[in-house]
Amino acid sequence: MMGARISSWGSALPDKTLTNVDLEARIDTTDEWIRERTGISERRIGGSTNELAIEAGAAALERAGLSGADIDLVILCTTTPDRLMPAGAATVQDALGIAGGAFDLNAACSGFVYGLVVANGMITAGSARRILLIGAETMSRVVDWDDRNTAVLFGDGGGAVVVEASPEPTLLASNLGSDGATRHLLYIDHGGYLQMEGKEVFRKAVRACIDTAQKTLAHAGVTADEVDVVIPHQANFRIVDAACRGLGIPIEKTISILEHTGNTSAASIPLAMAEAADAGRLHDGDLVLMVGFGAGMSWASALVRWSAGGAPDGSGAGGAPDGSGTGGAPDGSGAGATA
Ligand code: ACO
Repeated sequence: MMGARISSWGSALPDKTLTNVDLEARIDTTDEWIRERTGISERRIGGSTNELAIEAGAAALERAGLSGADIDLVILCTTTPDRLMPAGAATVQDALGIAGGAFDLNAACSGFVYGLVVANGMITAGSARRILLIGAETMSRVVDWDDRNTAVLFGDGGGAVVVEASPEPTLLASNLGSDGATRHLLYIDHGGYLQMEGKEVFRKAVRACIDTAQKTLAHAGVTADEVDVVIPHQANFRIVDAACRGLGIPIEKTISILEHTGNTSAASIPLAMAEAADAGRLHDGDLVLMVGFGAGMSWASALVRWSAGGAPDGSGAGGAPDGSGTGGAPDGSGAGATA
């Protein structure tokens, strides 16, 4: 049975760091308040969405020993495109020499998980063999730096993964949701700043994370105990903590990077995934649960059997189904092989 797996990853963060202490100089806030209420200490600021997407995408390709010619499709998940038209993905396609289609996907902070489900579906349908899936954002361009309710929360960045055909499915189950009746809670109008009812978003986010994760786990026939790693959207440590309590998953199983990135919207899950993979926290065979939520409101979760090093059983016999051996690095020489 044809499946798809994440075989490589890469990330990009702007050079400039903006700390909570830097923000104290501009708005009526304190480092202590921000850390206690959100878990964020600093965030990276700068660049354009396309630049961050290209840098993260190039890193994911390089890691896998691939070039743009090996990619059938690029999907850029973003809420902060550099232009209304054309899609940022077109610029990424050109810069990386990708030999296929390109489109943007906007599901706010849930975008990357939506994108993963789309990529998985296209590969299993036989419409693409290898997809570059990117989440990139420049939230700093849409927040009002004089509004303490929102300025302290967001940052810029990009994360990318290569999703490619594999002999067995590795995306075991997923759940996508939307409640457009609550779209007034979090939005950005053309030319305007991000507007948010923080408390209400917080409450709904916790509920949505628990609900979507439970649906995905039930669909996969997996209990919360069996989950090895949770990669949640990096918005607020307290949301992650409350969701984990609701799910009965120890907080130690979650990946957290928001201390130094803030909320990078659609980039946050791939950024956290790349950091975790580089740190050796993701092993072939691990059950990895991704959970996103954001404006819409939208939410999404996906349960993946991590198999970056090869076949889902960790035997290393994966790689391209045609046996060409690109990606998967069965010899452990390059792409994948984190364990
Ligand atoms: N520094 C100091 N005080 C502040 C700040 C700040 N930066 N911001 C707000 N306050 C004040 C408020 O004005 C309020 O004062 P008051 O009691 O005198 O009115 C007080 O602190 C408490 O504010 P609350 O809103 O009760 O604080 P809360 O504990 O809810 O935390 C926060 C606020 C951090 C925004 C929280 O509600 C939150 O994280 N919400 C979810 C936000 C989120 O995740 N958004 C992104 C979704 S993903 C996407 O799609 C982009």
